[in-house]
Amino acid sequence: MKSVVIYGKAERPLVDSFGRVAKKLRISVTDRCNFRCNFCMPSKPTWLPRGDLLTFEELTRIAKLLSSMGVENVRLTGGEPLMRRDLEVLVRMLAGLPGIRKLSMTTNGYFLAERAPSLRRAGLQSVTVSLHSLKPEKYEGLIGVRGTFDRVMNGIREAMRAGFDPIKINVVITRGCNDDEVLDFVELARRTGSYIRFIEYMPFDGNKPWDRRLLVSGKEIIEIIGKRYTLIELPREAGSTAKNFAFTDGVKGGVGIITSMTEPFCSDCDRIRLTADGKIVPCLFSKDEYDLRPLLRSGCSDEEVEAFIRAAFMRKFRGVETLIKGVKPINHIKPMYKIGG
Ligand code: 5AD
Ligand code: SF4
Repeated sequence: MKSVVIYGKAERPLVDSFGRVAKKLRISVTDRCNFRCNFCMPSKPTWLPRGDLLTFEELTRIAKLLSSMGVENVRLTGGEPLMRRDLEVLVRMLAGLPGIRKLSMTTNGYFLAERAPSLRRAGLQSVTVSLHSLKPEKYEGLIGVRGTFDRVMNGIREAMRAGFDPIKINVVITRGCNDDEVLDFVELARRTGSYIRFIEYMPFDGNKPWDRRLLVSGKEIIEIIGKRYTLIELPREAGSTAKNFAFTDGVKGGVGIITSMTEPFCSDCDRIRLTADGKIVPCLFSKDEYDLRPLLRSGCSDEEVEAFIRAAFMRKFRGVETLIKGVKPINHIKPMYKIGG
């Protein structure tokens, strides 16, 4: 008898040794980026040779297999995902997989204005834009490229116009840099109905060494906001990386905090990551990675690929209690632009 795959409710979910079940896949489609955010990019980034990147067919094959194991959400990241040519083609291929319920992308927004309509038509459902300052000079200093602020703001507007509504905005707050802008971001959320997600500054090997004194905790951010607005904390969805808050006066939009450093959310983590060159990364904070590409390119069967993924995920790192204790607690082998967050 032919076996039946029940999409969404996998007969045999992808599970790790602590019983955590994979539901979300993050695909870094390229390590290339046209920005040089100082907390992400080293001063001399090295790019993968093009032939090392998984093809759209290879990426779709993995996503399909994972969806048969119960993965429902796919997020495209980079580097900058829109640096990958014809990303719309991949979006269409992934959107066509019956088990994928949510398809989203995290982008720096630079190419968004012209690409938002075609991405939307291809089946992309939601967009998160990284925007670390609302002051043009500061923004451009932070991301390391001049003449970008207006383009990115326009990208956000065009994405909304194309139907990506609400939009999420990622902000990494660092002390002495943009911590004076927390309320400005909240006002942007209220004005546009978007969701601002404040991400705690994490120790990846960017251009400047991580320093715990620069970290502004999610708790501090909520305190700053609480002085001006009353927030209500929303029930946390299982596996969510963010604690989300709505405004009590009923205004659309909201804020979230991603407290990876002070209150990590490892116990029900449901994510699995794939790098642009085909490495399975079960945990962002562990050096472990499992190179799937040689197997994929050896003409192996889906059963073999599945067995490889299951073995890799089974070894998923238990997680971190709190990362803030040490100054440089994680000896990373990869900077953020190689993993995609
Ligand atoms: N700490 C926190 N967030 C970071 N990002 C990049 N580097 C860091 C870091 N060191 C952000 C990106 C993007 C998200 C995936 O992670 O700006 O919004
Ligand atoms: Fe590029 Fe994003 Fe890294 Fe900035 S944070 S350099 S936009 S990959």
